[in-house]
Amino acid sequence: MTAPIFITRLIPEPGLKKIRESRIPFEMHPEDRSLPASELRHAVAGRQAVLCQLTDAMDESVLEAARGCKIVANMAVGFNNIDVAAASARKIPVSNTPGVLTECTADLTLALILAVARRVAEGDQEMRAGRFQGWGPLYMLGSDVSGATLGLIGPGRIATAVARRAAAFGMPILYHGNRSVPELDQLGGRFCELEELLRLSDFVSLHVPLTAKTRHMIDSHALAQMKPTAFLINTARGPVVNEAALVHALKTHQIAGAGLDVYEDEPRIAPGLADCPNTVLLPHLGSATLATRGAMSRMAAENILAALAGHTPSNLVNPEVWNAS
Ligand code: DGY
Repeated sequence: MTAPIFITRLIPEPGLKKIRESRIPFEMHPEDRSLPASELRHAVAGRQAVLCQLTDAMDESVLEAARGCKIVANMAVGFNNIDVAAASARKIPVSNTPGVLTECTADLTLALILAVARRVAEGDQEMRAGRFQGWGPLYMLGSDVSGATLGLIGPGRIATAVARRAAAFGMPILYHGNRSVPELDQLGGRFCELEELLRLSDFVSLHVPLTAKTRHMIDSHALAQMKPTAFLINTARGPVVNEAALVHALKTHQIAGAGLDVYEDEPRIAPGLADCPNTVLLPHLGSATLATRGAMSRMAAENILAALAGHTPSNLVNPEVWNAS
């Protein structure tokens, strides 16, 4: 018999524990890798619930295979890996894991800002390669973070948590999005148009979800508006940035550098990006702490267990589907 719950790859223990305690039979793909589409389609067929990851392409064909499923629970706050319209058309509720990774991702954003501005990764390489010849007045000079202007694009939970940290560094804050945010205003943030933010910021930090509207929001035109001394920080989604245009901007010193945690075509990175010394490149670590990943897995499991018990899951991204059922 097909187990009602399918988990697409190994997840942290807190979520598994919840599911085990429910005594609802589950099957988990026992490897730490994503299933190819054909295997995923096969694996989701006949399930009541699927717990998936941002690395699972839950496209129309997979959702068609999952028809009848009571919930697709993504273990991520971003859900651009799921064709939500296709899920809704098949009356499949979709959930995500907002909130639990906010602080952790904001921490990593600050880590990238500090690392790229103060050349932390380059300095580490100098030491390991035995190139450090002693302190020098002109040696490895970076850029100030304290007092520098921070531009936040996409003023949601994570951007607000970044702003709280930035306030402690005395950073004036500009932000752009589709609404003004009282908490950001209270932190001294000023809502402005994208062009102004790009023109004035010393650090431009991206916090928008990936949608048709935000794909390649940062393209050669946007990069050309940034100061030559400014840095681009991306802990959101890779395709928000045209990575080839970014490599060009970095190589031609159109901007000072970039701190990236996400890439346009993960796990690949654009040709030339790794050769740019003015970058800090991390492998999508925004939510990668033991506690946060545990909380994400628990939240995804709770969404599943609520749906299977007939209760409204807390984190639906298409609640209209649930309300209509
Ligand atoms: C998310 O939850 O969307 C993050 O990218 C996971 O690290």
